[in-house]
Amino acid sequence: MLAEAQTRVRAVPTGGPLGADIVDFDPGHFSDEDMAVVRQALLDHLVIRIRSTDIDDVAFERFGSRFGELLPSPDFTRSRPVYLENARYVTIISNVTDDGKPIGEHGDGELHWHTDLAFTDTPSALTMLLAREVPPTGGNTSFANMYAALGALSPETRERIKRLRMKHQASHNAQGGRRPGYKDIETDDVREMPGPIHPIIRTHPLSGRQALYLGRRFGAYIPGLPLAQSEALCDELFATANDPSRVWAQEWKLGDLVIWDNRCTMHRRDAFTGLGRRRMHRLTTRGERPV
Ligand code: OGA
Ligand code: MN
Repeated sequence: MLAEAQTRVRAVPTGGPLGADIVDFDPGHFSDEDMAVVRQALLDHLVIRIRSTDIDDVAFERFGSRFGELLPSPDFTRSRPVYLENARYVTIISNVTDDGKPIGEHGDGELHWHTDLAFTDTPSALTMLLAREVPPTGGNTSFANMYAALGALSPETRERIKRLRMKHQASHNAQGGRRPGYKDIETDDVREMPGPIHPIIRTHPLSGRQALYLGRRFGAYIPGLPLAQSEALCDELFATANDPSRVWAQEWKLGDLVIWDNRCTMHRRDAFTGLGRRRMHRLTTRGERPV
């Protein structure tokens, strides 16, 4: 109560299955009480948005570091240079080219449903995107509520996946190419692709709530199951996870700062080929091994 009395900052829910706008908040100047409201809103709404931000990359990094330990994103080889000189945890997601070279990652194509760094032992906890350039339309980012997805599974499926885990293949990127360090991997059999094995139901370390935990559909495999059974169960889990009834879409405006929790959401991005320049500055925080 005391904290609320000392801050004007509020969360206004999107009205969808997840997401809230944080209002009367300046990520460049804030108190501990303001920050407490923002943190609680992220726990309650899974994705938060702060509109019309006017902060530079140094201030973005300072704000981001209040959510946890910032991590340099792995070099996926497209950004040159990978990190900004004055804010070395900030990476760029963009379709913009400079002298014919991409200035950031991920181009202008669709990004299929995923959670960030699920293919590592300790996937990202939070990801933050700050919109520095946006096309007039297109390139929307959709988020799905994984607490709700778990609740939407049939009791039989839920019982079954309690005892199962999923392998998140690490060797191939979303475009089907080999990730750095995996150039020699030849197999296209998901049972043989290398990658970490995580529980399918995970418990959020802060909320204590259980969520369905998936990465990318491509290369997902449930060890111990015959391939056909694994494929069928993965199809069922991803279909439930990505059902439009539990999805909210962010339509980007310049200055939007969106923060999501990868431990209880999934996300995807629409393609925006030919629709204009888009440049996001991005931060992530260290996560824990999913349990
Ligand atoms: C990411 C991501 C989506 C987007 O940065 O992890 O998935 O809308 N970005 O650019
Ligand atoms: Mn992502």
